[in-house]
Amino acid sequence: MYEVYVRSFADGGGDGEGDLRGVRSRLAYLRDLGVDALWLTPFYPSPLADGGYDVADHTGVDPRFGTLDDFDALVADAHAHGLRVIIDIVPNHTSDRHRWFREALAAPIGDPARERYVFRPGRRNPDGRMEGPPNDWPSMFGGSAWERLPDGQWYLHLYAREQPDLNWRDPGVRRAFEDVLRFWLDRGVDGFRIDVAAGLFKDPAFADVGADARTALHGRIYSRPEVHGVYRDWRRILESYDGDRMAVGEVWTDSPDELARFLRPDELHQAFQFDLQLAPWSAPAFRDVIQAAVAAVEPTGAAPTWVLSSHDMPRHVTRYERPPGVPGIGTARARAALLMLLALPGSAYLYQGEELGLPEVEDLPDEVRQDPISRRTGGKRPGRDGCRVPIPWSGAKEPYGFAPDGTRPWLPMPPDWASLTVEAQDGDPASMLSFYRSALALRRELAPSLPEEIEWPDDPSDASVVFRRGRLTCALNCSDNPVRLPPGEVVLASAACYGDLLPGNTSAWLVTDAPS
Ligand code: GLC
Repeated sequence: MYEVYVRSFADGGGDGEGDLRGVRSRLAYLRDLGVDALWLTPFYPSPLADGGYDVADHTGVDPRFGTLDDFDALVADAHAHGLRVIIDIVPNHTSDRHRWFREALAAPIGDPARERYVFRPGRRNPDGRMEGPPNDWPSMFGGSAWERLPDGQWYLHLYAREQPDLNWRDPGVRRAFEDVLRFWLDRGVDGFRIDVAAGLFKDPAFADVGADARTALHGRIYSRPEVHGVYRDWRRILESYDGDRMAVGEVWTDSPDELARFLRPDELHQAFQFDLQLAPWSAPAFRDVIQAAVAAVEPTGAAPTWVLSSHDMPRHVTRYERPPGVPGIGTARARAALLMLLALPGSAYLYQGEELGLPEVEDLPDEVRQDPISRRTGGKRPGRDGCRVPIPWSGAKEPYGFAPDGTRPWLPMPPDWASLTVEAQDGDPASMLSFYRSALALRRELAPSLPEEIEWPDDPSDASVVFRRGRLTCALNCSDNPVRLPPGEVVLASAACYGDLLPGNTSAWLVTDAPS
């Protein structure tokens, strides 16, 4: 699965922002890369207070991203290229410009129009005078999760102020989203990525979470039992359509049991498992994460999911560069990590640009940063713009073929990206792009004959991760020194291997003859 961050993928309209036409014009690239499916991030009408995760109309296309006709043409072309398409659905909140929220604001306190959101009275401070927010819930983007209106009511926003949370106890909200799903399924989408999937229902007592906010969020704000009924209804809708329509949930949790509840056979098909993305460069850490992820989905029968990068986290080339060591080590490690990712059973989710080895752009000036995280924390947290810089396609300078020459991309692109463009890497067998293509092609060839089960050696080493699936062995050396290769013939390696040695920060796939 390949995540397309639409605004930064390819600009087909010449305004410096990526759009649906741009994606459509690059489908052959994605087919040749060797992915099976695309996940499109939100392209709905939106003021883009949170990059489009603030949806103002769930059944439209923002003019800056195209039209519904462009969407239909994109889906038809993707299918003709053998690519499936899933889209982001954002049920936890809307934009503050959504018709529902505007109606709610125009209505008096207590009016049914306010029922679609979470409005509460404030509470008196201990001195009995000043009014404060209804409780201590924090916004994920920093600051309080409550915003006060001039009439004295407060509304809940777990994310930015411009993203009021919906009230999923309101039957109208629930029905409306079912219609949204049908709207897109009727247009041919193969499924949905569900944003903040665990968050929809909140503790009806609105109790304080106290100092330990992060842990207390689970079960209070996230993963209330009521949410599962929604996904059981959604599953029935998906199954009423032909083909293999699916849903993958963004479920942040550190409890495997909680994750498994979302993956019961009548709920979501998949849920993101983010631990690989959070793990440091360490063989024991990777091994623990993989074993825990597999164990978490095992009772459910769902496929595990693996992620190294996304639009929400610093890119892994840069993460693996830390603590700063040998220049280029992040790239070597990113190559090595890919073979681990693609040897695992289940679904690998790639993020646009990782196939080019793009680093996080860390030196964006404050004035161009657009992520509300940066704004809401007064720059204390830099936010996620650095992984959302547009894709360099060709040429030697900005906009690197992302947009027509002379167009300024919505985020500035680094001056030293000429060697990272698709054009520069295309014919170079040593490039990251060529390596991704080879690994994806080989995975496609090998995967059908591999068992889902992973076998681990009895004597795990601190230096390397080695695991087997049938004929395929994957060895990833996380140390800086060479280790001995396991038995088998090397069919792909992230860097040259010498004799029976696997160099430091390198990985290899080895194949043994099929057991007789
Ligand atoms: C999810 C998205 C993220 C967004 C947030 C609020 O975590 O991946 O980009 O900011 O939800 O919608």
